[in-house]
Formats: sequence, C-alpha cells, structure tokens
Amino acid sequence: MTTNNGTGGVLWAGRWGFVLAATGSAVGLGNIWKFPYMTGEYGGGAFVLVYLLCIAAIGVPLMMTEIAFGRRGRGSPVEAVKRVVAESGGGAGWSILGWMSMICGFMILSFYVVVAGWSLSYLWKALTGGLVADSVEGMAAIFEANNANPLNLGFWSTLVTLLTMLIVGKGVQEGIERSVRWMMPGMVVMLAILIGFGVFSGGFGQAVHFMFAFEVGQLSGEGLLAAMGHAFFTLSLAAGAIMAYGAYLPAGKSIARTTFMVAICDTLVALMAGLAIFPVIFANGMDPASGPGLIFMSLPLAFAQMPMGTLLEVIFFVMLTMAALTSAISMIEATIAWLVESHGMVRNRAAWGTGIVLWLVSTLAMLSFNLGAGWTLGGRTVFDWLDYLTSRFLMPLGGLGLALLAGFVLKDRLLRDELGLPDIGHALWLFMIRYVCPLAIVVIFIDALGIMNL
Ligand code: PFF
Ligand code: NA
Repeated sequence: MTTNNGTGGVLWAGRWGFVLAATGSAVGLGNIWKFPYMTGEYGGGAFVLVYLLCIAAIGVPLMMTEIAFGRRGRGSPVEAVKRVVAESGGGAGWSILGWMSMICGFMILSFYVVVAGWSLSYLWKALTGGLVADSVEGMAAIFEANNANPLNLGFWSTLVTLLTMLIVGKGVQEGIERSVRWMMPGMVVMLAILIGFGVFSGGFGQAVHFMFAFEVGQLSGEGLLAAMGHAFFTLSLAAGAIMAYGAYLPAGKSIARTTFMVAICDTLVALMAGLAIFPVIFANGMDPASGPGLIFMSLPLAFAQMPMGTLLEVIFFVMLTMAALTSAISMIEATIAWLVESHGMVRNRAAWGTGIVLWLVSTLAMLSFNLGAGWTLGGRTVFDWLDYLTSRFLMPLGGLGLALLAGFVLKDRLLRDELGLPDIGHALWLFMIRYVCPLAIVVIFIDALGIMNL
C-alpha cells in the first residue's frame, strides 16, 4: 500500500483489497432499498429475470472492461479513458465517456445521500424507541413524518454528506477494506435471519412466487429499461466508481475472477433482500408497489414482531448505513481523483470543495419530500429526476459507448494484455462486448421509447 498512482490514492492491498472495495461499492442501497421497491413496482418475476440477464450479459463484461480501463489508464475516469483512447490512436471525442461517468456518479450521490439519511435516521429511531407501530399504516405514518420536516431530513442527509467527504478526503483504503470485510458477512447473516422469520410469517410462498414466477409480456418496455438501468446501478457501472477503483488495482491480478466475485455477492444480497422483504409485505397486506419507502415501512414491522427485534433492528440499520457509505465513497472518488490529478488539489481540499456542491444539489433532492414536493417537471421531483436520468439514460448510454469503444476502436492487444484471459475467454468477452452488450442496450432503448413494438 505504498505506491502512489498520481491521484492521491494508493494501490489496493492485493486482489482482496480491490475485491472488497468493489464489493463495498456494489453492495449498497441499490440491493436492499432499490431492488425490492423496483421489483414491487414493476410487478415481480419478469423484472427480476431481465435484471438477472442484464447482470450476466451486460454487467459482467462491462465491469471487466471498466476495471481494465482504469488500470490501463491509471488515472481518474476522465484521464483514464483519454489515455487508453490515445494509446490506440482513437478520436478525442471518446473522452466524453469519462466525463459522463464522472458526472453520473456525482448525480447519483446527490440523491443517494438522502436515502442513506433515511437509513441513519432509522438507526436513531431504532435506538430511541421511535419505530413502534403495529400496522403498515402506522409505519407509513412514521416514514411520512420523518420526511415532512426539511430540517430533520436535511440534518440526516447532511450528516451522510459530511461522513462521506470525511472518509473520501482521507483516502482511507484500509478503512474500506476492513469495514467491508465484516459488513458483507454481517449483512448476509442479518438477511438470513429476516428470511428465516419470513418463512414463518405466512407470506413466504407468495413472496417466492412474486419474485420468481413470470409471464411473458408482463413487463412493459419501460420496465425493461428500468431493469437494465438497475443492473448498471447495482453493479456501480458507467458511473466512474469501478473505473476509478480499477486505477488502484495492482498489475497482474485477475480482472475476470474479481468481477465474478463482485457480481455474485451483489446479486446474492439483492435476492436475499427481496426474500427478506416481500414475505413481510404480503403477510401484512401491503402493496408491493408502495415506492421508495417500501423497506422503511415493512422491515420495522418485521423487527417489531421478532424476539430481540430492537437489537437486530439496530444492527441492521448500522450495516445498511455502512453499506451505503462504502458505495457513496466510490461514487465520488472519480471527481476527487480528477480534481487532484488535473487541478493539483490536495485530496482533502478537493473533498471539501466537492462536498459543498454536493450538499447544495442533495438538499434540492431532500426537499423533494417536503417543501419541494411540488417542484416537478413531467410529474417528477428533483429526487426522481436525478434517479431517472442516471439509471435510465446516463448509465446505459455510457455503457453502450464504453462497449463500442472497447469492442471496435481500441487495439485488441491493449485490453488483451490488461484482461489477461486465455484465448477462449478473451474471445467470449470480445463477443459480448462487441455484439451482445450494444445490441441488448439498443434493443431495450428502442422498445422503451416505443419506436418499435417488440
Ligand atoms: N452499486 C451501488 C448500490 O447498489 O447501492 C450504487 C452505486 C455505487 C451506483 C456507485 C453507482 C456508483 F458509481
Ligand atoms: Na448493488
């Protein structure tokens, strides 16, 4: 951990260091908060199936590509893309992909801190006995009340912003590695306990059916795009995070194996979260399409009925908050690395400067739940727009660009060296990145935009 790569970061301590950090980035609110409520909103099984297919067919090859770009370019995504393109004699226009992903990460973080703020405020409520209600309506009322006061909600999202910037400013790779090391197994155990509880709640069969049974045609074009967008979101793709972390990956470590591990962990946690939450939803007659408040209204109800429920609840929200923080850090790393690299800023100052801008934008997102609930465009609040633009457009389009760049523009030797796969593996990766990824993304877009009716 002594090599400095020029962006104020040091290399990860071997392959495990990177796996842990990338897992910390991937596993977060996307798995436990977003996956269940999106699955609920888009009707269950078909959404889950498309999501899983997108992880395997688009997510995995793209994650390998991003890590390879980061390590080859050894800089922030902006610089890394530029360098890799230059090395192949490609046009300067491709560097827009680096910019896009950096901006995308920033935009995601602007609403992510609000959700992480929910998690932190629920931790506080759990500790102080504020999560007591005996019905879904009661829990919903607690959620609403928590949102209604901008000073309250703003306090929690501001606290998350501060914590994120504090950690990022220090560049504490070791801290990330250490916390992910116990948070991941901890989260799996907590979810297993919740699933165990769900098995006896009377809603488990319905939950399994909801998540895994699907009828063809159950998913709209809009749902397809949502599922693909979520695959990007959950794996932290095309948002600067994985590429920025790839820049700190030591040479010679297997990118493919790393990617598989991250994708498997991430998928496991998401599916477990669904299996933990939907039984509670069905057992209590709650609507799966209740939106972003879904887990905050349902899980506390389950904890309230469990032995040692309060203790488990506290542990759960501690871990959820930590999972959110290890993801939050990764979203802003690209911006920080870029400021350090191109403006010669000290890391800490870059973090505080970025933090101020982030605080302003995230405050607008926070206000979407109270004062600014009426500041809408096309029916979407600021919070909704930040989510919508990034997951539906910036990430899939950024992914499309990266796939085309890697598949058709770069010299084959370059990524072949970086990925270091056996011939057959390399051919498979190339096939996926050249044809499967771009085609899948384009077809889903066409369908979602209603240009064609598939
Ligand atoms: N993958 C994270 C999650 O599932 O919570 C969210 C995320 C992290 C998205 C980093 C984008 C990113 F760059
Ligand atoms: Na995730």
